[in-house]
Amino acid sequence: MANDTDSRDKVQDSPQLPKIPIFIMGKRYMVPEELTIMKAMEYAGYQFIRGCGCRMGVCGACGTVYRKPGDYKIRVGLACQTVVEPEMYLTQLPFYPANRASYDLAGAQGSAEEIHAAYPEVFRCVSCNACTKICPAEVSVMDYIAAIKRGDLELASELSFECIQCGLCVSRCMAELPQYHIAQMARRFVGAKLTPKAGHLREQVRNIAEGRYKDLMDQLESASKDSLIELYKARQWEPAKEGEDWTPDDHRGLLS
Ligand code: FES
Repeated sequence: MANDTDSRDKVQDSPQLPKIPIFIMGKRYMVPEELTIMKAMEYAGYQFIRGCGCRMGVCGACGTVYRKPGDYKIRVGLACQTVVEPEMYLTQLPFYPANRASYDLAGAQGSAEEIHAAYPEVFRCVSCNACTKICPAEVSVMDYIAAIKRGDLELASELSFECIQCGLCVSRCMAELPQYHIAQMARRFVGAKLTPKAGHLREQVRNIAEGRYKDLMDQLESASKDSLIELYKARQWEPAKEGEDWTPDDHRGLLS
């Protein structure tokens, strides 16, 4: 992130809203209300080189901490999603150091013991719940760490599924855990080792490798934009009714 007065032009077309004061890294700026922190920082002249990715609350690159006047509480949010408030003091944590264990996923068994060996510090967790309280994605961080300690990797995988790896949990952990890396290892084990393989997926991979869809792909690549639009509109939809056993028709030859 750099201060760049030129970037101000990019957000000068912000709605003509009343301006409110905010403090970015201690310096006071007047910014239009209703902007997100990210847009307000750009309005103030900051240019994002790091600490910004998707701008949609998915990538976790823009973790931000802030306080409000007269409030003891440290608050957190994603800069691309959190709207500015008058007199807020803020700064970004574009990256928070967290060591990732190296392991061989292909050769692993997928056991909890392997995770415990890779991250022995997981047992230092004292269940203070600071990680859960700070999570901007409302993930139950402490609960998935507890599940990993117990060996329940499926539960840990489910509880941590919404993690965007912003690293704010790491910044608050008194036991100094890299929670999101530990959860990622659990999810990889569940996905690669513990979940039964889908037979139809294996079959489709074999079909593709054997060239079953080559003619169709060739047709798609040479099709006009209009025929692609028509094909898209005519695509099959999975029925909305839950539990219905639905198999799509084979689409070969739709372009002919
Ligand atoms: S920029 Fe990706 S979550 Fe904010």
